[in-house]
Amino acid sequence: MQHPLSGTATNTVPEPSITLEEQSIMKSGQDKKTSRIPSTTSKKSKLNDLRVFLSAWLSSPLRTGANAPSSRFLARAMVAAAKTSPDTKVIELGPGTGIFTEALLNAGVKEENLTLIELNPDFRKLLSQRYPKVRIIDEDAFSFLSHLAKGKAKNEDYTIISGLPLLVFSKKKRIQMRKDSLDIIGKTGKVVQFTYGPKSPIPLDSSIEAQSSKRIWINIPPAVVWCYKTPGAKH
Ligand SMILES: C[S@@+](CC[C@H](N)C(=O)[O-])C[C@H]1O[C@@H](n2cnc3c(N)ncnc32)[C@H](O)[C@@H]1O
Repeated sequence: MQHPLSGTATNTVPEPSITLEEQSIMKSGQDKKTSRIPSTTSKKSKLNDLRVFLSAWLSSPLRTGANAPSSRFLARAMVAAAKTSPDTKVIELGPGTGIFTEALLNAGVKEENLTLIELNPDFRKLLSQRYPKVRIIDEDAFSFLSHLAKGKAKNEDYTIISGLPLLVFSKKKRIQMRKDSLDIIGKTGKVVQFTYGPKSPIPLDSSIEAQSSKRIWINIPPAVVWCYKTPGAKH
C-alpha cells in the first residue's frame, strides 16, 4: 500500500525566521559582538570559508556541489526540520565549512553527539580547528551509512543532516542511501537534506515518509529542505 505522504511534497517543514541579531547584521552589514557569535559568521571566518569553498569547487566541482557555503537561513531551516534535542545523536554528511554544524550546536546539540563525515581534507582541517571536540571522519558518506546500518545497535536512533550534492550521484546510490538511512534513523530519527532541484533528491516510495519546505529564496541558489522519516514515526 502506498503511504499517504510518499511521493508528495507537503509544506510542513518550518520556514527559517530572521532573528533580531540577523536583522541588525543585515542593516549594519556587521556582526554584533555577542557572547555567542557563531564562529562561521565573523567577517574574517566568512571570507576564509569562501576562499576554502571556492578552491574546493575549482578542484572538484561535482563533489563540492556549490561554489559557496549555504546561507544561515538555509542552515536554520535544516536544523528546525530536524527538531533535535541536546541528546539527539546527529550525523552530518558533507559539512563543508560547517554552516549547518554551527546551527546544530547553536540549537543545543552536544558536541559529543555530533559526527561529521567529510571527504575534503581542507574542509576537515578547518572543521577540526573550529570544533575540536566534534568527531570528524574521513570517509565516503555512502560507505559510512552502509557500515553504520550493518552494525547499528537497535536502540540507537540517529538523525542525519545532509549537505551532500545528492543529484550528482546515481539513483541506485540514492536508493541505497534511503535504505541505509532508514535503518539508522529507526523510529525517532530523521533525515534532512536540501536540494536546488524541483523534487525529492531521495527517490520516494512507500518505505519512507517525506515532507518539504517552501523554496528558500534568500539562499543562493534558492533551495528546498526535505525531511524524511520512517512511516508511522510519532514526530
Ligand atoms: C554542497 S557542499 C555543502 C557544504 C555545507 N553543508 C553547506 O551547505 O555549505 C557538499 C559537501 O559534501 C562533501 N561531499 C561530497 N561528496 C561526499 C561524499 N561522498 N562523502 C562525504 N562528503 C562528501 C563535499 O566535500 C562538500 O563539503
